[in-house]
Parts: sequence; structure tokens; C-alpha cells
Amino acid sequence: MGGRIRRPDCDPAAVADAVRLLRAGQPVAFPTETVYGLGAPALDHRAVARIFSLKGRPADNPLIVHLSSAAMLDTLVAGLPEAAEALIKRFWPGPLALVLPRAAGVPDIVTAGLDTVAVRMPDHPVALALLDALGEPLAAPSANRSGRPSPTRAGHVAAEFEPADLPLILDGGPCVHGLESTVLDLSGSSPRLLRPGAVTTEQLEPVVGPLAGKPGEAAARSPGLRHRHYMPDCRVVLAEPSALSVVCARELAAGHRVGLFCVSGGERPSGLALYRRVPDLATFGRAVFATLHEAGQLRLDVLVVERVSPEGLGLAIMDRLRRAAGAEA
Ligand code: TXA
Ligand code: MG
Repeated sequence: MGGRIRRPDCDPAAVADAVRLLRAGQPVAFPTETVYGLGAPALDHRAVARIFSLKGRPADNPLIVHLSSAAMLDTLVAGLPEAAEALIKRFWPGPLALVLPRAAGVPDIVTAGLDTVAVRMPDHPVALALLDALGEPLAAPSANRSGRPSPTRAGHVAAEFEPADLPLILDGGPCVHGLESTVLDLSGSSPRLLRPGAVTTEQLEPVVGPLAGKPGEAAARSPGLRHRHYMPDCRVVLAEPSALSVVCARELAAGHRVGLFCVSGGERPSGLALYRRVPDLATFGRAVFATLHEAGQLRLDVLVVERVSPEGLGLAIMDRLRRAAGAEA
């Protein structure tokens, strides 16, 4: 890795250099508590356009705007519904993005022409320091090329983009949650879950009442969900806990290079090129994307992953895994 990966905790000039680059219209990658983001000043439509082209992102997939203060919110949204105020009080800073009626000054490219904008306040000291130093909101998708697994470490970002295209990656260590934020639409008559994330349905419903858009209901409206996502460099096969060893044996017998990522007990199959067993669901969620990246680096043919129950954090984990495995969103 070159000198473009810099740690603000031991390199005090890193944040100031990031601000200089952002003001000059250059992208900067930064850590959040969910995944790494690829930032551009949200009100600078040219800088935002560069992010779209760098990622190869379809123009109909809007970006989340990140902020560090209520004052920044005023420039982005046209009024706050009551539910938004309660959610902000309870969950910000944190992994909850709110879709709200947009203010007139937000460039069309950020919202993909929608009349709403997604906003969130990240819970990471480096992200907050960067936003404070810049003094304005940052539009930031996950810092991966479109369709690839999200980055949860600075090295994942560096592997995706050439230094000439991305001159600075702020390194804040591994992301605590490792799954992107929950996206909740508050622009309609009732709150609708567009993307499950680290803030769970079980945590949201006591604050805002029953959510629409949960699994089994009509397809969610988040434009990002229409696109292919999280494609690693190997096949991903999901299996029930009781079937893990059989599936691994079948893949090994076919002569494949096999990895296993699991959370439950059971014997470790021999002959695996990667074996990761984690103690609990939070660790599983934190390690999902890192394990998909590692599977590619190790040139696995197939990564066998344990299915978890789609409750609590398991809903977000299974959403990412199903899409990594090529199932419909
Ligand atoms: O955790 C996160 O949210 C990370 C970090 C960097 O903050 N960011 C992230 O961005 O995951 P991205 O671009 O990978 O995903 C943004 C999601 C997409 O599914 C997009 O369609 C949805 O948010 N979204 C953004 N604006 C929206 C809007 N106005 N209405 C509906 N969905 C929106
Ligand atoms: Mg993304």
C-alpha cells in the first residue's frame, strides 16, 4: 500500500489534506462505523459526478449525504417530520439513514432526480472530524466499484481504486458494524424500511410504530436495490447450519478451492482454504464483507456461508448474503 493511506490519529495533517482535496473537487475515502465511504461535497455537482464515474455507479442510484450537525441538515431537507426528530434524537450519530423531502439546493445528481434525499450522521471520530473541518455535508456511497462488496478496511478501498483516481484514504481501522446503514423512508404516510442495517426493525418500531417494507411485503422502493450488488470474485453458497459440512464436502469432492464462514458449532471440515468461525451474530455481521474480500484474495472457487435467522441484525446480514450469492434482492 502506498502513502495515500493515512491515519488521522497519528497524522494530524491528514484531515486538513483531505479537506484541501475535497475543496479542489477530488474524492477522498473515509471510515465510518458501517463501511468506508467515498466522499464528495454534496453541493458540488461536479465532484459528485466524479464519484459516480469512479464507481461506475448507475445514475439512477442516489447517494446518502453525511453530516455532523443539525445546521447542515437545514441546507439539505425541506422540513423534518415528527418521526424524524424522534429517530435523530435516539439514533444519531449512528447507522440510520433517513429519506426526507429534499431542499431545493441539493443537486439532482445526488438524489438521482428524486424529490427526497437520504441523510445520516456517521458515528466515527474520523468521519465527524472530516465533516467538521470541511464545514459542509459530504455525499458518500460505499467506497467500492459498483456491484462489488463494500469495504470495511482501508486496504479494501486501496484494492478497488488506483492512486491517480483516489489520492487519499483516511484509515480509521476496521469498521465496527461492517454492514451499511439502515435506510428508512420518512417521506410517505408511514415509515418504510428500504434497506435493513445495523439499526434493527426491533429497535425502530418502539420509536416510530410498525414499519412498512419488511420482508414479504411489496418490493422496497430504494433505487439501489434494483442493481446487482456485493458480487465477490467467487461463488457464494448459503447453507443451513446442519448442511454446512455436507455442502463443503460436495464442493471439495468436485475439486474446488473452498472456504467456510460460519457462526454455529460443528466440526471443522478438513481441506478448506479458508475457515472462519465467529462467536456471535454481531461479529458475523462485522466480518461478512471482509470475508468476501478475503475469499477473492485467496482465489477461492466457492465460499460456503451459514444462513442465519432473519431477525434483528440477521435481517441485514441475510439481505447482503442473498445478494452476494446472486439471489434476487
Ligand atoms: O452505511 C452507509 O450508508 C454507507 C456509509 C459510507 O455511510 N453508505 C452507503 O451508500 O451504503 P451506498 O451508496 O452504497 O448506498 C446508499 C443506499 C442505496 O441503496 C440508495 O438507493 C439509497 O441508499 N438511497 C439514497 N438516497 C435515497 C433516496 N432519496 N430514496 C431512496 N433510497 C435512497
Ligand atoms: Mg454501496
